[in-house]
Amino acid sequence: MVARLIDGKALAAQLRAGVAEDAARFRERHHRAAGLHVVLVGEDPASVIYTRNKEKAAAKVGIAGQLHRLPEDVSEAALLEQVGALNADDAVDGLLVQLPLPDHIDPNRVVDAISPSKDVDGFHPMNTGLLSTGRPGLVACTPRGIMHLIAQTGLDLKGARAVIVGRSNIVGKPMAQLLLAQHATVTLCHSRTRDLPAVCRDADLLVVAVGQAQMVKGDWIKPGAVVIDVGTNRLEGRKLVGDVDTESAKEHAGWITPVPGGVGPMTITCLLENTLIAARRRLADLD
Ligand code: GUN
Repeated sequence: MVARLIDGKALAAQLRAGVAEDAARFRERHHRAAGLHVVLVGEDPASVIYTRNKEKAAAKVGIAGQLHRLPEDVSEAALLEQVGALNADDAVDGLLVQLPLPDHIDPNRVVDAISPSKDVDGFHPMNTGLLSTGRPGLVACTPRGIMHLIAQTGLDLKGARAVIVGRSNIVGKPMAQLLLAQHATVTLCHSRTRDLPAVCRDADLLVVAVGQAQMVKGDWIKPGAVVIDVGTNRLEGRKLVGDVDTESAKEHAGWITPVPGGVGPMTITCLLENTLIAARRRLADLD
């Protein structure tokens, strides 16, 4: 079997066109653009690129993106003050603070300070709690993007065996909740899972988010399975690879996401979707 590729880039472009239409409708109704505000502390090179990409992607669909840069040595109190000011600003519909933060700042305090109604990352405990109890809130962008990608394959999640490798708050845990809500039977694996290859081999759907280059091999994959590779790892020759060994996995999987061009483009797309969801909900509340 040679797997079909799930083209995240094409799907993201298609969804962003829809987001642009929604953003235009929002501008017409409310006489201003929806606003996405991103706070970046320090100069971490990857974070600088990610946040610029978020700002640019927002502008392209007609969302007013604004990046707020603070110095590496900003105090936690000053950062919390900035978050408070953005919470209070009615032109701010979506707000996120880029992670990781410098060691002297407690990320939990910062995430907890973001207004849940503007928390477009879906990281606030109010939003994670709503997700885990099956109630509407804002949902983390990467798992939301993955649900769109899975839908492309036609896989019926009802009763399907879904295995997630990686239990992070950003991907693994919310992914488990979204799949459970679609009636999959979910196994959430991590570094202490016994005989991980055997658990993976049982999966109709395998989502891998561990941050280890090419860890999952082809013979860990059930023939015909859908494989979602969340990893982006740079090899020494600068080549970008996922957490799955794509070449051997393609021989077993039915569908697989490429790296790059799979999950990555979907994450920012879902951030834009979340911004419009947050904007509309907030204004309906205020009307
Ligand atoms: N750092 C890496 N990914 C993310 C993300 O999705 N949101 C935030 N706030 N920081 C990140």
